[in-house]
Amino acid sequence: MKYYLETKQLTKKYGSFEAVKDMSIHIKKGDIYGLIGPNGAGKTTLMKMLVGFAEPTSGLILTEDNNNFINKVGCLIESPGIYDNLNAFDNMKLKALAKGPFDRKEIEEILEFVGLSDVPKKKAGKFSLGMKQRLGIAMALIGDPELLILDEPINGLDPQGIIEIRELIKKLNTEKNMTIMISSHILSELQKVAGVFGIISKGQLVMEVSADELKNKYAGDPDSLEEFYLDVIRKGQKAC
Ligand SMILES: Nc1ncnc2c1ncn2[C@@H]1O[C@H](COP(=O)(O)OP(=O)(O)OP(=O)(O)O)[C@@H](O)[C@H]1O
Ligand SMILES: [Mg+2]
Repeated sequence: MKYYLETKQLTKKYGSFEAVKDMSIHIKKGDIYGLIGPNGAGKTTLMKMLVGFAEPTSGLILTEDNNNFINKVGCLIESPGIYDNLNAFDNMKLKALAKGPFDRKEIEEILEFVGLSDVPKKKAGKFSLGMKQRLGIAMALIGDPELLILDEPINGLDPQGIIEIRELIKKLNTEKNMTIMISSHILSELQKVAGVFGIISKGQLVMEVSADELKNKYAGDPDSLEEFYLDVIRKGQKAC
């Protein structure tokens, strides 16, 4: 298979409203895929279908290993589901137990990887937003997923928090060879991490474009994604 994950005419209807319509996306193994689009475009709905939180109305999700795919996906969609009165380890343990027997060493290694091993006693309720997001990602990493889906993981973070998540995503991609889909409205940040972008509007995929294509088109301008996106969305809206 050419792609690690591919959808074909994926559609999600709520009543007669099509939140996602005929969407065909293409993700290669090892990609960091940036998902962008206006509020209400269907990003979260698409992600929920990919991880099995929402049932597609029609269309297909195709992967290298269709039977076992759902066990190879980790996700952070909407709130991370953290218990404020527990420390990072116990939050991880609860999440792990929901999947099966828990492995202390695995949890310790993940907490070390995301930079939360130095606060063993601190309750999550006392964490900064950046630490909470890192714990949310840590919880998504239980079971060593091949694909990580992160819905707006940098939303509301300060510059330092954004840099920490950026470095973590890059490290997961390079050191663990993880394929990652990430949505964000902060296009300049997304352009720093993603190698390919899916632009969606009104439930439909308008375009997929690689970072290299953008580089060529805009002579290496690091903020070209924003200009390109606004152009594509404007044209897409005119076409509707
Ligand atoms: N459970 C639901 N029932 C009815 N409509 C829904 C439901 N979930 C989402 N929608 C609608 O589907 C559309 C797409 O929503 P979605 O949350 O996927 O957008 P989004 O691109 O993630 O937006 P944002 O950038 O604001 O997070 C919106 O119009 C939303 O109101
Ligand atoms: Mg959303």
